[in-house]
Amino acid sequence: MSKKLFIKTYGCQMNVYDSERMTDVLAPIGYGVTEDPDDADLVILNTCHIREKAAEKVYSELGRIRPLKEQKQSNGGRMLVAVAGCVAQAEGAEIMRRAPVVDMVFGPQTYHRLPELVARAVRDGGGVLDTDFPVEDKFDHLPEPTSQTGVTAFLTIQEGCDKFCSFCVVPYTRGAEFSRDVASIEKEARALVAAGVREITLLGQNVNAYRGQGPGDSSWSLAQLLTHLAKIDGLDRLRYTTSHPRDMTDELIAVHRDVPQVMPYLHLPVQSGSDRILDAMNRGHSADEYRRLVDKIRMARPDIALSSDFIVGFPGETDRDFEETLRLIRDVTYSQAFSFKYSERPGTPGTALPQQIEEHVKAERLTELQKLLNEQQIAFNQACVGAKLPVLFEGKGRKPGQSIGRSPYLQPVHVAAKNDLFGEIRDTQVVAALSNSLSGTLCTSEVTS
Ligand code: 5AD
Ligand code: SF4
Repeated sequence: MSKKLFIKTYGCQMNVYDSERMTDVLAPIGYGVTEDPDDADLVILNTCHIREKAAEKVYSELGRIRPLKEQKQSNGGRMLVAVAGCVAQAEGAEIMRRAPVVDMVFGPQTYHRLPELVARAVRDGGGVLDTDFPVEDKFDHLPEPTSQTGVTAFLTIQEGCDKFCSFCVVPYTRGAEFSRDVASIEKEARALVAAGVREITLLGQNVNAYRGQGPGDSSWSLAQLLTHLAKIDGLDRLRYTTSHPRDMTDELIAVHRDVPQVMPYLHLPVQSGSDRILDAMNRGHSADEYRRLVDKIRMARPDIALSSDFIVGFPGETDRDFEETLRLIRDVTYSQAFSFKYSERPGTPGTALPQQIEEHVKAERLTELQKLLNEQQIAFNQACVGAKLPVLFEGKGRKPGQSIGRSPYLQPVHVAAKNDLFGEIRDTQVVAALSNSLSGTLCTSEVTS
C-alpha cells in the first residue's frame, strides 16, 4: 500500500460497516488504513446526521484538518479531504462552499464509485460532488469484505426507510427502502465466516421490513433470510438491528423460538409510551399494541432481552405523556436502552410543530427516564448472576490476563483466562454484575495445548 487512508466514523453501526467497505474499495488502488490523520493522503469523515448539531461538528473537525492539509501541501505533498455519509447527503454542495478544504462530498449510496471519484478529485483539484441514489448499484459493485479481522461482523442487508417518523432524517438521507438480494447476502456472510467470523449482525435502518429477492422470482422476508443464513456452517450467532414494531411479524417472532443461532436479544425502539405522542411521531402503533407485541415475543422466547430508543420532549409532550412513557418502561422492562432529548432536524415535519418543549424540561425528563432505564439494566445484569451463559470471546480485556466476550443478551462478559479465548464460545459462570457488564469464570478447565 503506497498511500495512506484515514477514516473517521461517526454514528451508527451502518456507518461502521460503510467505512469498512470504503476501505475495501480503496485497497486495490493502493490505499492502506492509517490511524493518524497527520500524514494521510486521503481523509474521509463518514458522518452521521441523527444527532444534534451534526453538521456543526463536521465543520469544526474540518477546521482541525485544514492545517494538516496545508502542512502536507507545504511539504510538497497532497491530502484529499472527503465528507461522506448522511451529513454529506443532507448538505451536499453547501459543505464545499462553507469549507473549501473539502475536495469531495459523497452520500452513502456512491461508495462503490470511490476509485473514480478519487481519480476525478486528483485530476480536477477537488470539487467532486456525488449525492445520487443508485442504491442497487452499490451492493452489486462493492467488493467482498477483506478488512474483517474480528469474530463478529456487521452485514448491511437493507437500507433506507419508508416510515417517515416526524422527527427523523433517515428517509431523506438514506432514501427509500431497498433490500439486497439473498444470494449476495449469503455470499458475503460465507466470506465473513471463512475469514473467522462467528457472529453476524444484519443491519438495516428498518431491517425487519426486509424484502429481498430470493431464489427464482421469490421475495424473502427477514425470517426466511435468518433461517437460511443459520444453516451456514460455523456461523454460530445471528442478530439484526434496527427493527420497527410494525414490521415485527409472527413469522419473525417464531424465528426467535425456532432458530437457536438467532440470539435472544431484540432492539425494538418505541420512542414514547404516550399514544398522543406516538401519533404525532407518525409511528403507526399505540402503546398497548407495543405491549401486546412484547408479550407475544416473550411467549415465543421467554428469556429475550429487549432494548429500545426513547425520545423525551417531543413537541407537545406533557408531564402526563412523559408519565405514560415511564409506565411503559416499567411494564416492558428493558435490558438496556438509548434515550435522547428531542432536537429539531431541518426538513423533518417535527420542526414545524408548535409547542416545542423547553430545554430544562427535556433535561429533567431525560434524567428521570435514564435513572429508571439504568435501574432496569442493573436489575437485568444482577439477575444473570449465578447463571451459566455461553460467551463468544472477542478479545483481551483491559486488565492483563483478562478475556472479554459477549453473552447471548449482548452484555460484555470478562473472565480471567490463561489462554487466548479469541473466537471461542465457552460456557461461563456469571459471578458478578456491574452496571454495563458481567464478570464470570470459565465452566470447564482450560485446555493447555
Ligand atoms: N431528536 C432526538 N432523537 C432522535 N432520534 C432520531 N431523530 C431524533 C431527533 N430528531 C433517535 C431516535 C432513533 C435513534 C436512532 O435516534 O430515538 O430511534
Ligand atoms: Fe427514522 Fe427509524 Fe422512523 Fe425510519 S423507522 S423514520 S429510520 S426512526
